[in-house]
Amino acid sequence: MSDTNILKTKVLEHGNSSFEMDPGPVKRATLKDSSSPFHATQYSELHNSSKFCANCHNIFHPDNNFPIERTYDEWKYSIYAQNDIQCMDCHMVPVNVAIRVADTLTRPHKLKNTGLSGVAAIGGPVRELVHDHAFVGGNAAMASVLEGKESVSYQESVKRLQSVASLELKVNTRGGGLHDVVVKVNNDRAGHNLPTSLTEVRQVWLEVVITNDKERELLRSGTLDKDSNDLPKDTTIFNVTAVDKDGKHTEFPWEIVRFTTVNTIPPRGYKKTKYSFNVFPDSGHVKVVATLHYRSFSQHLADFLLGKGEVKVPNVTMVTLEKQYPVKDQKIVDEHKATDEH
Ligand code: HEC
Ligand code: HEC
Repeated sequence: MSDTNILKTKVLEHGNSSFEMDPGPVKRATLKDSSSPFHATQYSELHNSSKFCANCHNIFHPDNNFPIERTYDEWKYSIYAQNDIQCMDCHMVPVNVAIRVADTLTRPHKLKNTGLSGVAAIGGPVRELVHDHAFVGGNAAMASVLEGKESVSYQESVKRLQSVASLELKVNTRGGGLHDVVVKVNNDRAGHNLPTSLTEVRQVWLEVVITNDKERELLRSGTLDKDSNDLPKDTTIFNVTAVDKDGKHTEFPWEIVRFTTVNTIPPRGYKKTKYSFNVFPDSGHVKVVATLHYRSFSQHLADFLLGKGEVKVPNVTMVTLEKQYPVKDQKIVDEHKATDEH
């Protein structure tokens, strides 16, 4: 790949394979001083830029131009782009370094003690930063099938998913035992929306379970059905709803003409969901457990594509938060309130 050319796309944006190819003996990379006895080498600024990735990680419908996957666009207007953090800075380094990149908004080669020095090729010089070429995202499901749960790809994708988000809880008393809990989900470390890419298929969802000290369940939302492995209808899912030309729900990219709902979480942004529940007179305290889960696709889609019952879609617990609240006269005493106010 030698260049990217937006004139190749109808929407005049990088995407839909807008790259220029120059196959042959010249090998390109971000190394200014490389030399090889086997092929010619050339320094390429493109290989250091998100525009390289944009060629494939921005997808427009070829007929109606609708942006089906917008990872590059989501990144382009984010705090990461504003601070010159490129896709490579998170995806071509191990997750523990990507976490530092996201938190300090500093590119990996400017960080100290990354442990990433080494040789890029046999006989090459020792370099400060050797990039990883595994491009780990969130696909723990495929990694577990192809390489097993002991593999670096699986472990890194789980670590990646468990480093993205954080949760906050706030309870409000509304009188007569009625209460609301507001669950806030922060996208702390994804350089684009959470989730991104095939957002009509990805499932990032909230499970909320509220119980009292008498083992009474006051609320349950987002628990997978034990038999069908599907989510209940009222679950909060951070995704989009795609429809075809007749307005019918679809999960197939080639049928999509528009999204009717968009509920993904922008980079360094958040989404809040409110749940209502009743506190009964016999409650001494109330326990709220909120959990954010991830899976690459739903069970019904797996059943449709691979055959019913062929694969049980695995899910990864991204983050969980548990809080206990004392109750007085059917009212919750929110001792956490002062610190949770945002
Ligand atoms: C600040 C770190 C960071 C940056 C910068 C970043 N990403 Fe990511 N990326 C993540 C994290 C964390 C995840 C896992 C959570 C998710 O799916 O959003 C991820 C997931 C992904 C996935 C998997 C999505 C899926 O579900 O299939 C793709 C593809 C991806 N990133 C591409 C890119 C591209 C392309 C860029 C640059 C335009 C980029 N990323 C920039 C952190 C980053
Ligand atoms: C020539 C096209 C192409 C280019 C260029 C490209 N990608 Fe991808 N990438 C893909 C495809 C296709 C997939 C989906 C593969 C799959 O899920 O089987 C993918 C998947 C990914 C994933 C997801 C892996 C996971 O765990 O789900 C990440 C992260 C990613 N790419 C990052 C990048 C980054 C960063 C760049 C730029 C340095 C880049 N890609 C450039 C085509 C490309």
